[in-house]
Amino acid sequence: MGWSFADRVYWVTGAFGALGAATVTRLADAGAHVIASSRHVDDKRFADFPRVVPLAVDVADDDSVRAAFAHIEERFDRLDGLVVSTNVAAFGDFLDLTDDDWQRVIDAKLLGSVRPIRAALPRFIEQARGAIVAISGRGGIAPPPNHFPGSSVNAALDLLVQGLGRRYGPHGVRVNAVAPGPIRSPRFDAMATAQVEDEPTRLTALDGPGTPEDVAAAVAYLLSDDARFVTGTRLYVDGGGPPYA
Ligand SMILES: NC(=O)c1ccc[n+]([C@@H]2O[C@H](COP(=O)([O-])OP(=O)(O)OC[C@H]3O[C@@H](n4cnc5c(N)ncnc54)[C@H](OP(=O)(O)O)[C@@H]3O)[C@@H](O)[C@H]2O)c1
Repeated sequence: MGWSFADRVYWVTGAFGALGAATVTRLADAGAHVIASSRHVDDKRFADFPRVVPLAVDVADDDSVRAAFAHIEERFDRLDGLVVSTNVAAFGDFLDLTDDDWQRVIDAKLLGSVRPIRAALPRFIEQARGAIVAISGRGGIAPPPNHFPGSSVNAALDLLVQGLGRRYGPHGVRVNAVAPGPIRSPRFDAMATAQVEDEPTRLTALDGPGTPEDVAAAVAYLLSDDARFVTGTRLYVDGGGPPYA
């Protein structure tokens, strides 16, 4: 199913990653203007989508995030929604991961989601309309043994989404999470390489792994008006999780 986002304006962080990029193209295909941000931007990546505006932003730096939001305000004077999809890789056994590994994940994903949400939320409250989607992850309820930092942050992000949904629902702002399971991407390959126990032969009840486009479709739904009564929740895109043997 396709939703129309004609002339709407969305900000996607982590936009040059696998899931962020699929989300950007999904929204742009549906007529949206999309601010596509990450630390490193490639002007050619979305060259086929004239409504996509690449913007270099470091979500680990609050000044960078606030400057980006000011830029969006100035350029579009409109923002309909925000998708936060940043992370850095920190895969490995618990005993091998350092404070620095944990800190980088917290800064890129947990605080890296908090900062753009905090920057955009006042506008959404003021206009009594806005949709926020955070990409968390299935690890938030079932942490793989090589992925404790990311999984812990996913759980925190899901809880934050639940709290924000209830806190700002009365202001017309919806806040939800999409929790992907294994999705075919460089990140998925990196995680598989760092596995600390045998991978099951079949990862998911439905045939998987999924694709970035599967995640983008869920994001599009949660941003759409069809999700007008949905907030504070987490939508799994995980092929049903590991199957029973
Ligand atoms: N792929 C999967 O199988 C899977 C499964 C479950 C959950 N997830 C979650 O889904 C989200 C997206 O995953 P993905 O596979 O698309 O990851 P990805 O390909 O590694 O992309 C992550 C993006 O985050 C950006 N980023 C990292 N640190 C940043 C910072 N400080 N400031 C701004 N941008 C930053 C990266 O770009 P720069 O380096 O240029 O900044 C990159 O664009 C992540 O939160 C991940 O944990 C993914």
